[in-house]
Amino acid sequence: MISTENLLNLIEQAKENLGLPDSLPGLYEPIRYTLSAGGKRIRPLLCLASCQACGVDPEEAINQAWGIEMFHNFTLLHDDVMDKADTRRGRPTVHRKWNEATAILSGDTMLTLATQLIARCPDEKLPRMLRLFNSTAIKIYEGQQIDMDFEGRSDVTVSEYLEMIRLKTAVLLSCACEAGAIMAHSSTATLNALSRWAENVGMAFQLQDDYLDTFGDAEVFGKTPGGDILNDKKTWLLISAMNEAPDAIMPLLGSPRSQAKIDAVTEIYKSLNLPARIHELMDRYTTLASEALAEANIPQAARDWFTSLTASLSARRY
Ligand code: IPE
Ligand code: IPE
Ligand code: MG
Ligand code: MG
Ligand code: MG
Repeated sequence: MISTENLLNLIEQAKENLGLPDSLPGLYEPIRYTLSAGGKRIRPLLCLASCQACGVDPEEAINQAWGIEMFHNFTLLHDDVMDKADTRRGRPTVHRKWNEATAILSGDTMLTLATQLIARCPDEKLPRMLRLFNSTAIKIYEGQQIDMDFEGRSDVTVSEYLEMIRLKTAVLLSCACEAGAIMAHSSTATLNALSRWAENVGMAFQLQDDYLDTFGDAEVFGKTPGGDILNDKKTWLLISAMNEAPDAIMPLLGSPRSQAKIDAVTEIYKSLNLPARIHELMDRYTTLASEALAEANIPQAARDWFTSLTASLSARRY
């Protein structure tokens, strides 16, 4: 296996070849701003690693890797409008630095650039690649709509929440692995195994994102903590608190956006030991991920790489 560091270097080098025009700074500058702000590049990393694990030079999948990363960044521009978020990757969000119209249109442009990149593959793979990408995108929009619908509901169940995060987050990690496997002509069994590994890792990934939104260190996390609480997002943390301490939590829902609300909800989470318990739930998904990985017909070095990535994602602070 090429090291994670070298795969990430490959991804950053390819960013320079995306060919964003120098014209129309109102449209393209926010895109450059977003792509230059870092980001963990997990999705392109998974795409390249899957391709490599299936025995093909990871560079073969670099366009699909960037298509998926571009798509992810598009969803972030629109998500930050929807979530009224002020910071991302340690910088003002696009709609705060510019305005909402800019976040909408630069986001739209990124979606189309993403499709163009995904489609840069041999003709015989194109229908399959577009079917994968389009069906994934629709699931993500559905997940995002359900996420917003939940803000105004007080009867959301844990299983509804888990289905929502599968749609808004986990399926894109699966898509990244599947795209890499398709570029490497992998067997169906291995493609499915990598896809299921990624979906379970994606579930743990969103649970950790929700944990960090309340308990993360603002400097390291790069997003303004407490946003989920201010928006009454029905995270596993909030649903658990609503089930277990309804008298304490219910009066806080719908209350004005304030630091006092964030502090009060956070104290309830701590009193219920939810920080430790959310990590137990994440561990269950990590176990499902390793069971799925066992079904993939890949070399031991690749298996080790995916296993160590699972661990580092669960322990991430941003
Ligand atoms: C943020 O994704 C959105 C979620 C699905 C939680 P990442 O945590 O991968 O964001 P970046 O790309 O590293 O900034
Ligand atoms: C975002 O979930 C999922 C997508 C962007 C599709 P969040 O709203 O929790 O992501 P962050 O925390 O803003 O990155
Ligand atoms: Mg959101
Ligand atoms: Mg958000
Ligand atoms: Mg979040």
